Amino acid sequence: MPQDRRDPPNGRLALFPGSFDPLTNGHVDIVLRSAHLFERVLIAVLVNPEKDPLFTPDERVSIIRQVFREYPNVEVDTFGGLLVDYAREKRASAIVRGLRAVSDFEYEFQMALMNRHLEPTLETVFMMPAEQYTYLSSRLIKEVFSLGGEVRGLVPPLVEEWMRKKHGSGAS
Ligand code: PNS
Repeated sequence: MPQDRRDPPNGRLALFPGSFDPLTNGHVDIVLRSAHLFERVLIAVLVNPEKDPLFTPDERVSIIRQVFREYPNVEVDTFGGLLVDYAREKRASAIVRGLRAVSDFEYEFQMALMNRHLEPTLETVFMMPAEQYTYLSSRLIKEVFSLGGEVRGLVPPLVEEWMRKKHGSGAS
């Protein structure tokens, strides 16, 4: 039975959730594509105390805000707990996720269906980044950078700057 949609959520707000540790040019690509489709895009940075992040959630929010400072319909916030609860609170109608390759599919499919089980009115929208970003991931960026590899062109210049600062300060 189709869901009752007489009380639609904020139909033009899309949530783009993730860890963003750090933000990559692949993420930027997806945000800009989403900002064309939706009235507002809310980048939701997961606060996960179990991980050992490179950047604190506040640092990530600050970096992402600066990167998108010229895009008034792109907002940034942190969230904890269940994504569907946060989406309800914000009255978002869609979750945006990037799909880089077939290897992403299984995990994304599981998450999308679990989120649909938890909140049937919330749609997950998958977007493909530009081809040159299909191999990018935050995890690889951190690894390459920590081993002295070049990350220019793979992350926004501001992210690279912050990574250098962290590296200089002795953080991993
Ligand atoms: O950038 P990531 O790490 O791939 O993002 C994963 C994220 C944040 C989207 C996912 O872990 C999430 O939604 N976490 C919140 C907790 C939750 O709702 N879990 C159930 C998802 S089915």
